[in-house]
Amino acid sequence: MAQREWWRSAVIYQVYIRSFADGDGDGLGDITGLRSRLDHIADLGADALWINPWYPSPMVDAGYDVSDYRAVEPRFGTLADAEHLIAEAHDRGLRVLLDIVPNHTSSEHPWFREALAAGPGSPARDRYLFRRGRDDLPPNDWRSVFGGPAWTRVADGDWYLHLFDPAQPDLDWEHPEVRADFADTLRFWFDRGVDGFRIDVAHSLIKEPGLPDVGEQRYPPSRVEVEGQLVRAPWTAHPHWDRDEVHEVYREWRALAEEYDPPRIFVAEAWVDEPERLSRYLRPDELHTAFNFDYLTTPWRAADLRRTIEETLEEHAAVGAPPTWVLSNHDVARHVSRYARLEQVAGRGVGGSAADLALGLRRARAAVLLTLALPGGAYLYQGEELGLPEVEDLPVEALQDPTWQRSGHTDRGRDGCRVPLPWSGVAPPYGFGPGPATWLPQPADWGPLSVAAQTGDPASTLELYRTALGLRRATGALGDGSLRFRDDLGPDVLAFDRAPGFTCVVNTGTEPVPLPAGGRVLLASTVPAPTDLLPGDAAVWIVE
Ligand code: GLC
Repeated sequence: MAQREWWRSAVIYQVYIRSFADGDGDGLGDITGLRSRLDHIADLGADALWINPWYPSPMVDAGYDVSDYRAVEPRFGTLADAEHLIAEAHDRGLRVLLDIVPNHTSSEHPWFREALAAGPGSPARDRYLFRRGRDDLPPNDWRSVFGGPAWTRVADGDWYLHLFDPAQPDLDWEHPEVRADFADTLRFWFDRGVDGFRIDVAHSLIKEPGLPDVGEQRYPPSRVEVEGQLVRAPWTAHPHWDRDEVHEVYREWRALAEEYDPPRIFVAEAWVDEPERLSRYLRPDELHTAFNFDYLTTPWRAADLRRTIEETLEEHAAVGAPPTWVLSNHDVARHVSRYARLEQVAGRGVGGSAADLALGLRRARAAVLLTLALPGGAYLYQGEELGLPEVEDLPVEALQDPTWQRSGHTDRGRDGCRVPLPWSGVAPPYGFGPGPATWLPQPADWGPLSVAAQTGDPASTLELYRTALGLRRATGALGDGSLRFRDDLGPDVLAFDRAPGFTCVVNTGTEPVPLPAGGRVLLASTVPAPTDLLPGDAAVWIVE
């Protein structure tokens, strides 16, 4: 059973392949680079890696515009390289998850080319969402996540839907060929030993029949602040997010994954704000886990964190699924920089007040101890183990995220969390690869943050992660299970016990607080570890 359900406690390390390590010197990460650095992930103590899309792609959206789901982008390597990587990861006890992008293909995908060539009304257009416009206006008022309308008109007058970039046309999931083809893609990779998939925008596949206008409810805020308290905005049905019919697709996928031995697994990327709505994706015959973006967007305040954790635990328990916890990924500002804002509000971006990066790092170190002590699994984003901040000052000429263009240069997009990792040395490219440059420029002051610089330094963030992950494995109370909150340590303190004999204490305030009596500090986010007073923005693990 334990073997079968490894995912209930798994720590999964996200490899943003473009920025992990470069093997061939072109400045873009690739499979050879990843293979050469696999030991970093194994030594860190992760259980699995999730690799962002590595399929052939015009790279309009960094590989989330896929033109062939059953091959490898030549800039990343070959299918044989992928197979070697999977085998080498397995040799190290690491499982491998890939990223599947079912909502849309690339506009260079053969199906879309065929649809364009075949013309209005043709069956080839039925795999996508082509419609006539309203006179010269798009068929409805839907907006692209990246800015601008979600519709683009082609030369013959039809419009097609793209919830993201125009180079990412949405598929019509009512079409049987679409469903069959994705099932084939899952099998293709499962047959090659892949252990599971992260599902890109899992909540967007199904659109309301008739494609009605979305109107005012377009992007309702998930939480609103009322008198210093975060209050959840009520859930309302939406014409293209989180439609109930999407669950049929995942029931089919689950059945397919269960045909394998060992069964393969899924994690949903679903920006669904309501824990109850999110938990529907995790019913026993659907997906295994989902990213907990509610946790990611919760400000660094004990009461808010506790509320998020309680809601998460309750809703996941209702469907028997393990919760997961995540602080960063390739779509959000790095959490060191989010936490660096004293006036931090809920959300995934940075901005507003000035950054105090030392504060952000203290909180981030405390946050990883919290994250790894909570019941269930966790997702780590490459570079967070180095304490990397968001690169907020990338020159505009370097920006590549389509958000920058689509927003009319008002939103700089997500490049700041995608800067290639520093491995060694004191100047760019910091050992990223044999070439002189990297696809996004690295800051001049990242030398002390490199893997080599932090290795062996007991005060470093890298060693904190390594130690924490090692202790997590060795501590029976951690991973899947339950917790009991403590109320004895004051309003700025988040504390909970886990049986047998484990306590996590997080002080999100500014004043030191007394540590609970009894027990010994197993690990602290501060160096040296506190003995009787826990400073602000710090966390400890205590064992009996
Ligand atoms: C997901 C990905 C993001 C991508 C989008 C469209 O949110 O994480 O990077 O841009 O889907 O595929």
